[in-house]
Amino acid sequence: MRIGVLTGGGDVPGLNAAIRAVARRAFEYGWEVYGIYDGWKGLRDGIIKPLERADVSGILHRGGTILGSSRTNLAKKPGDMEKALENAKKFGLDAVVAIGGDDTLGVCAQLTKRGLPAVGIPKTMDNDVVGTDYCIGFNTAVTTVAEALDKLHSTAEAHHRVIVVEVMGRYTGWVAVMGGLAGGADYILTPEKPSSIADVCEHIKRRWAMGKKFSIVVVAEAAKIAEVITDEAEAEKRKDEFGHIRLDLRGLGPTIATAIEERTGFETRFVVLGHLQRGGSPTVFDRVLATRMGVYAVNLIRQGKFGRMVALQGDKITDVPLEEIADKRKAVDPELIELAQLFY
Ligand code: F6P
Repeated sequence: MRIGVLTGGGDVPGLNAAIRAVARRAFEYGWEVYGIYDGWKGLRDGIIKPLERADVSGILHRGGTILGSSRTNLAKKPGDMEKALENAKKFGLDAVVAIGGDDTLGVCAQLTKRGLPAVGIPKTMDNDVVGTDYCIGFNTAVTTVAEALDKLHSTAEAHHRVIVVEVMGRYTGWVAVMGGLAGGADYILTPEKPSSIADVCEHIKRRWAMGKKFSIVVVAEAAKIAEVITDEAEAEKRKDEFGHIRLDLRGLGPTIATAIEERTGFETRFVVLGHLQRGGSPTVFDRVLATRMGVYAVNLIRQGKFGRMVALQGDKITDVPLEEIADKRKAVDPELIELAQLFY
């Protein structure tokens, strides 16, 4: 057997751990493993090279991905899917493991329907892929958010300031809610729950009256908040191949900070955590999850079970059909949002 492995979409810590697991399991079976570089672009353009044991050695703890990544959408340009399928044949790939979020896995589902024997592994710091409780990279991202909130608490308290912390999350508030819960946020704004700037300000004033002369407000970059006008036109100017706008360019964090300062009179600063959330070494949770998922993916291939995505459900690693997860999004459980609210 010869299998190919690729990483697509936004990078997260834990990708290298997954690549290592795929390769090591496959080597144990006596198979060959080829690296497909820069996501689906590599399959389309034939940027495919054999991986040796040495290539996947010493990478477990490293962030990023040794294979590179891109947001190439093979469904966008006519002919790209065919090129990818031809290259899979040309390089003699018996199967492909695609490690990615909803976009990468969506393309994987389409290619599988067109005859590519493939399986998917879910990774995204957004944690919004359906069918799995957690995606690779989420735990590391929320750990970074919680650590940042710990640091921001002390300086906010020392200066009696409000600090608005903008975190990533293209459609959902997983990072905001879990990171905010773990880091003791005083208010969390997410796309799942409509809120207004008036509510936030009232809460901050209430805290002040109780003697809490500082507040940490966490906001998911995709949140829509009544009375807050963001720069949607600027964000729309730059779209990727999947049509995603640049959410960071909406300027939500700074806009909210200005609005809070104007309405409450309390000095308010903002921090945009941005790509820090995707950097560094993976946490223990992500290393173990990536390792379990990588090994499981190869076992799926061995059983000839293609068109499946590896998933974590409860404590068990299992698999779900790729087509069931495509074009869907897992929103934050309202119970988790309520839990976070309890500590405002
Ligand atoms: O999908 C993962 C994600 O990190 C989102 O949270 C964020 O909106 C987006 O990617 C940022 O992508 P880029 O790598 O293009 O800055």
